Amino acid sequence: MNTSIYTLPEIYDIAFSFRDYTKAVDFLIEAAALAGLSDISSMAELGCGPAQYCREFSRRGITAFGVDYTDEMVTYAQKLTSDERRTCEIIKADIRSFRLPQRVELAVCMMATFHCLLSNKDIVSHLNSVADNLKENGLYIIEMNHPRQIFNQSPSAQNTWEVEQEGIKVRTDWASDATVDPLTEIGEGTVTFTVEKDNKTEEFTCTEQWHEISLGLMRALLELSGRFHIAAMYGDLDTAVPFDNDKKAWRMILVLRKFA
Ligand SMILES: C[S@@+](CC[C@H](N)C(=O)[O-])C[C@H]1O[C@@H](n2cnc3c(N)ncnc32)[C@H](O)[C@@H]1O
Repeated sequence: MNTSIYTLPEIYDIAFSFRDYTKAVDFLIEAAALAGLSDISSMAELGCGPAQYCREFSRRGITAFGVDYTDEMVTYAQKLTSDERRTCEIIKADIRSFRLPQRVELAVCMMATFHCLLSNKDIVSHLNSVADNLKENGLYIIEMNHPRQIFNQSPSAQNTWEVEQEGIKVRTDWASDATVDPLTEIGEGTVTFTVEKDNKTEEFTCTEQWHEISLGLMRALLELSGRFHIAAMYGDLDTAVPFDNDKKAWRMILVLRKFA
């Protein structure tokens, strides 16, 4: 049993490589423009893991920072960045309280990383810290689970899949045994990576926890922090998909604007 799945960055990176990072960054830039930020010169990815999004921003000439607190992820992301000879700085810090070398116009928190903030206090502290690191009228875009999964108790995303990359096959089971404590609103489940390489199979497992967050809770915590208002909402990384109860809307994407 591993302590955290995030101590296995290479395997994590293969497991989640089905995502189209270029398209996702196109969406982030478009969503920011629709919210009034059309010329981004600096950004930060919070809970960046392998830093796929901030490295893509830096490829587009934008000053980019990635923030993560897991040593293995930070080392891995720093190596990828230096291999690419990119000016994307990976910083080891806790996103509940952090300081970037400069204020940025855009911050993003992708793929349900926000649910790693396990308490309301953590979320408010995080929102305050993000606001402190943003320029005036800066934007914060968060990709979260669609809240329908809290109310009908079925995951909003598929939780078993397989990816093969350069001869390494990774089968992922992301908490298909999930249970949620209705009092704490904390979910818990087993994450398993089964890795096949050179005719050998290895299994890595750990227990992950996450915070189930409804739109109502998010609105209340945003009000409590007093630092942001919701500028737009989407149901996918696609500005044509509204945030509603249709099947197409499988995410809760919030575009937050920092109060002046
Ligand atoms: C689900 S992964 C997502 C990584 C990346 N955003 C992506 O889309 O692939 C969550 C990442 O957030 C990091 N993380 C979780 N809580 C954090 C915290 N309080 N401070 C900094 N990093 C955190 C973990 O180490 C992990 O790398």
